[in-house]
Amino acid sequence: MSYLFSGGAIGNLEVRNRIIMTAMQTGFSMEKEAEFLVSCAAGGAAAVTIVAGVSPRGVFYNCILADEAHTEYLKGLSDAVRARGSHLIVQLFHSGRNAKQENLYDPALPPLAPSPIPSPLYKQLPEEMTAVDIAEAKRQFVDAALVCKEAGVGAIEINCTAGYLLTEFISPLTNLRTDKYGGSLENRLRFPSEVIKDVRAAVGQDYSVMIRVSGTDLLGGYEVEDVIALLEGVRNPDGSHPIDLVCVTGGWHESKIPQISADVEPGSFTYLAREIKDGTGLPAVACNRINDGEIAERVLARGDGDFVGIARGFLADPDFANKLQHGEKINRCIACNQCIKQVLRVQEIHCTVNEF
Ligand SMILES: Cc1cc2nc3c(=O)[nH]c(=O)nc-3n(C[C@H](O)[C@H](O)[C@H](O)COP(=O)(O)O)c2cc1C
Repeated sequence: MSYLFSGGAIGNLEVRNRIIMTAMQTGFSMEKEAEFLVSCAAGGAAAVTIVAGVSPRGVFYNCILADEAHTEYLKGLSDAVRARGSHLIVQLFHSGRNAKQENLYDPALPPLAPSPIPSPLYKQLPEEMTAVDIAEAKRQFVDAALVCKEAGVGAIEINCTAGYLLTEFISPLTNLRTDKYGGSLENRLRFPSEVIKDVRAAVGQDYSVMIRVSGTDLLGGYEVEDVIALLEGVRNPDGSHPIDLVCVTGGWHESKIPQISADVEPGSFTYLAREIKDGTGLPAVACNRINDGEIAERVLARGDGDFVGIARGFLADPDFANKLQHGEKINRCIACNQCIKQVLRVQEIHCTVNEF
């Protein structure tokens, strides 16, 4: 386990090993969520991720918002995680069309999207974003980032995955706009590019900023080259990069290609992190179906990522990292996908192999 348990860094943030607990909406109460994340921190993760909406119109009601009302909660959680030798990452999340109005944090208005095309998951017509909505969404990402920085959170992660708002702008299947945010690849990358640049400009150069990307949508809308184009296109004029670490997952929720179910070979999606790492020179977190130490070590040894990203492994066993380090048997995630089905139905998750 010499790769897994060597120290690393997310920008200026030093971390104790290469195991990042990736974003997972849980539907837990705030207290239970904090308890779970602190247990994963105590269980040896280098960093643990909480999901927080940037807009009440872009997240389920059973999630938190990264707003001023939650600064104290984030501060307390970040301190508690740090006291266990880990760091808190907040994923800044906007669901776009991937939500039902009745389940939104603010159910008064329908979900927003680049174009009025229903999500296959929720089958509801979203409202097409106006220029004012786009400007407001960018401001919401910036405000949320500043709340996290103010709360002393270790790092923020911009969500650009799985069919949520930023990715809906990238794909020509969900973006039919005729203004400067639609049409050519350059135009479709404009909104996520502006979010990245605005967030970095707001938090300053020293704060750790990550992005989570789907390496491809696995729907024929965009490929890994387009994600590389997004990341290359946001470089600062001096060639430096506004992103410190790219966390790379698979495709969109609605893709018919299995990405995280039990029949997916463990570690078989980490090639996407490798391609993005090679295409940008940025450090990467390789994810999906990494459910034991041998696989995790192999993924790092073959250079697919600088970190491994593990989600359900921590749900099955919050002591995942410590147990690997000490050669103990882990309670292994069986990839039954009960948890992801529950979260997409806006229910609290229940792990088949570990009751909370
Ligand atoms: C219940 C559940 C909720 C998730 N919620 C999010 C989310 O809000 N944002 C995100 O980027 N990924 C989310 N994911 C994806 C995970 O971070 C991870 O990429 C995926 O589960 C594959 O990794 P694993 O095999 O280690 O679980 C979620 C996954 C699960 C199982």
